[in-house]
Amino acid sequence: MKTSRIPGFHRMTIDERLRLVADWIGMDLDEVKATVSQGGLLPAAADALVEDVIGTYGLPFAIAPNFLVNGRDVLVPMVVEEPSVVAAAANAAKMVREGGGFLAECDEPLMACQIQVSCQDIHLAAERILRARQDLLGRAAEVDKKLLELGGGPREIEVRRFDEHNFLVVHLFVDVRDAMGANTVNTMGEAIAPLLAKLTGGQIGLRILTNLADRRLVRVRARVPKAALAMDGFSPEEVRDGVQAASLFAEVDPYRAATHNKGIMNGLDAVVIATGNDWRAVEAGAHAYAARDGHYRPLCTWRVDGEDLSGYLEMPLAVGMVGGATRVHPGARLAIRVLLAKSAKDVAMAAACAGVANNLAALRALATEGIQRGHMRLHERSRSLER
Ligand code: MEV
Repeated sequence: MKTSRIPGFHRMTIDERLRLVADWIGMDLDEVKATVSQGGLLPAAADALVEDVIGTYGLPFAIAPNFLVNGRDVLVPMVVEEPSVVAAAANAAKMVREGGGFLAECDEPLMACQIQVSCQDIHLAAERILRARQDLLGRAAEVDKKLLELGGGPREIEVRRFDEHNFLVVHLFVDVRDAMGANTVNTMGEAIAPLLAKLTGGQIGLRILTNLADRRLVRVRARVPKAALAMDGFSPEEVRDGVQAASLFAEVDPYRAATHNKGIMNGLDAVVIATGNDWRAVEAGAHAYAARDGHYRPLCTWRVDGEDLSGYLEMPLAVGMVGGATRVHPGARLAIRVLLAKSAKDVAMAAACAGVANNLAALRALATEGIQRGHMRLHERSRSLER
């Protein structure tokens, strides 16, 4: 039985870590080495991926050990330039592990395309659209037969009215399976737009997905035994209560919530980037969700729970493992393989757990000795390489 709990992983050489990763995924060591060289992406592949390329741009590709997610040992691939993010994730994952690990779940991968329709009588238009629901879903389904074979496809039509502005917005919800889904829903949205124009006599405006993917939420629970929080110079109760107080601060103050959420995104984005996913989309969705009731809130909160500490994260997370860079970037493919991901949900849950881990590590440090001591120690390490 393989375990991701690897004491001393940070003291290994790069070669030793590479060997461990190769064994973890059953891949030839030389192949793993060749994949991570040049940032995992050769210039010719980069040239095919975006426009006007002059080369590739490297970032550290790291592995955070110690993660236990739904009882499964996970090595978490992270691409990030900030010192201490990976160490903090590994450290916090170790603490959560002592409480049984992360419990994560994901909604079905529903993404929505928004189609804006301007017309005279938006009430009548909305009625007509909803009556034609089956036709609209059928027209959208024609666009991607492969997705239907995979068990995905268009699921639902919703109409949102903006009475004072004389337009309505149709949401076409699509189960995009293991894709991030932007291309799929945009294509389907464009395909049904002429039908919407005919039904309503209105004028079509924008046809584009929403990054506020609030039907594609990920949820993570983490329970940390009090003893696991222990720190030099602080009692476990002080650390535990300090993390709760830090959470409450973020819950009432959007200025703090922004930084609190940045700490979550440190870990979460690192996994999203490593797996070749669109981190701008994830960021946009995360912050829109954090502000959904008009008050910008923390995406992860912490409470004293009996003697222990419990954390809960909920947020949209639209990531895939097929299509785009996840398909053509060899480094991203390797990262997905390291996760042993069977579906895009596994990628999302691992990223979200890394977010919770980094949040816990940051709050624990901030509530006690402050962030700078550990941070500066690791900064020193990177600065020594500059000289
Ligand atoms: C730094 O990258 C992240 C923190 O500011 C997060 C936080 O304040 O919770 C330490």
